[in-house]
Amino acid sequence: MQSSTCRRIAVLSLYTAVLALLPLGCPVNEPAPPIERDVSFAMEIQPIFTQECASCHSQGGFADNVGIPMRLVEGLTLDSTVNQASTQDATFTLIEPFDAANSLLFLKLSENAPPVGSTMPLFGEPLSSDELGLIRDWIDQGAMDN
Ligand code: HEC
Repeated sequence: MQSSTCRRIAVLSLYTAVLALLPLGCPVNEPAPPIERDVSFAMEIQPIFTQECASCHSQGGFADNVGIPMRLVEGLTLDSTVNQASTQDATFTLIEPFDAANSLLFLKLSENAPPVGSTMPLFGEPLSSDELGLIRDWIDQGAMDN
């Protein structure tokens, strides 16, 4: 399900305290099957982060303000995520090269109940199947700076 009316909405949760306790998120999409070519970080992955994540995951952004220093801003993403421990739970690695299934960043995009915190993007529509597939493939190909 992916439509403009399907958003992981905070507004709704403001209506009643009961609603706020329910999992309001739209279900995540199924990642597309693996593709048989190299995925480019610069051309295909950072643009997703820039559009969907950087507003919060940047200096002075919402996540920064609640103590999450991870940056998903162009030029900062790789140093901030690849082989870096999660701030929320240091037993998790944000991006484990060649292993999307053990990369917390991917789990938070592709699972309705990720092992730590909320599904991302917080308050936004779930990423599309194609976007999820690309991010998984890029990580499984080694999370290269390419
Ligand atoms: C509206 C603000 C917002 C947006 C947009 C957002 N995030 Fe987050 N993110 C947060 C907050 C707040 C936390 C900490 C709480 C939580 O995980 O539920 C967080 C935590 C995370 C963490 C865990 C970091 C750590 O060190 O433990 C990851 C990974 C993450 N987000 C990835 C993403 C990705 C990828 C996107 C874009 C697809 C994204 N986020 C979009 C607000 C946001």
